[in-house]
Amino acid sequence: MKKIIAFLMAALMLSLCLAGCGAKGKTLAEVQEAGKIVIATSPDFPPFESLEGGQVVGIEIDIMELICKELGVQLEVVQMDFDSVLLGVQSAKYDAGVSGITVTPARQKNMLFTAPYYNAAQVIVVKEGSDIKGKADLSDKTVSVQTGTTAEEGCGDEGIAVQAFAANADAKAALTTGKVDAWVVDNLTAIQMVEEGDGLVILDEKMTEEPYAFSFAFGSEDLVEKIDTVLAKLIADGTIESIFANYGETYMKP
Ligand code: ARG
Repeated sequence: MKKIIAFLMAALMLSLCLAGCGAKGKTLAEVQEAGKIVIATSPDFPPFESLEGGQVVGIEIDIMELICKELGVQLEVVQMDFDSVLLGVQSAKYDAGVSGITVTPARQKNMLFTAPYYNAAQVIVVKEGSDIKGKADLSDKTVSVQTGTTAEEGCGDEGIAVQAFAANADAKAALTTGKVDAWVVDNLTAIQMVEEGDGLVILDEKMTEEPYAFSFAFGSEDLVEKIDTVLAKLIADGTIESIFANYGETYMKP
């Protein structure tokens, strides 16, 4: 009996919170009714999302296009800084966050995630010839990161001095102009942005390994479930791997 009461109380509190904690994410039926999925993205993160002549392009856009096709809806893309993506999704201002978002236990308290579709890592980028050879050398150094990212959180946790920038390109520029000693960023983005050629190198030792997924507001449970079945199919039949190959990258299954 006690257990039943405790369960009912928990269910009541959860529903009160869902009602009182503001807007809820759209259900599958609501998205299909609207005829579109509106995604929030920070297009400063090649090869996942970047700008090409004012258009947002990239691996995640290609994946979302396929998901939308399967659901019979259009894809609508809204651009903003990365930290606004997370806030905008959890408050259900946008239907989904598509921004190379790492699944973390802290974020899972505030929003829903699809199953992870890619296994990423944080890497350390330094100037050629730097005496920084790995993580251990960062303790008395300053690193640049993008605001609100797992890089900011991870470096902070390790007690490394951090300078955070809203735009990823500014985090990189802080290193090239010598304002910081290193730049911590996700691996594939590091590869693509280092290729732009500014005398930067990526260190072998990784800071972390972390899975990417798409995020949704609470309330979108059935939509996420549906998207998970589509994602599973796209992973199993090699579609996701070939999308990565189109961008010259190797796919790492989570
Ligand atoms: N994976 C990292 C995170 O979730 C960084 C993502 C940055 N994304 C972007 N589109 N700039 O915190």
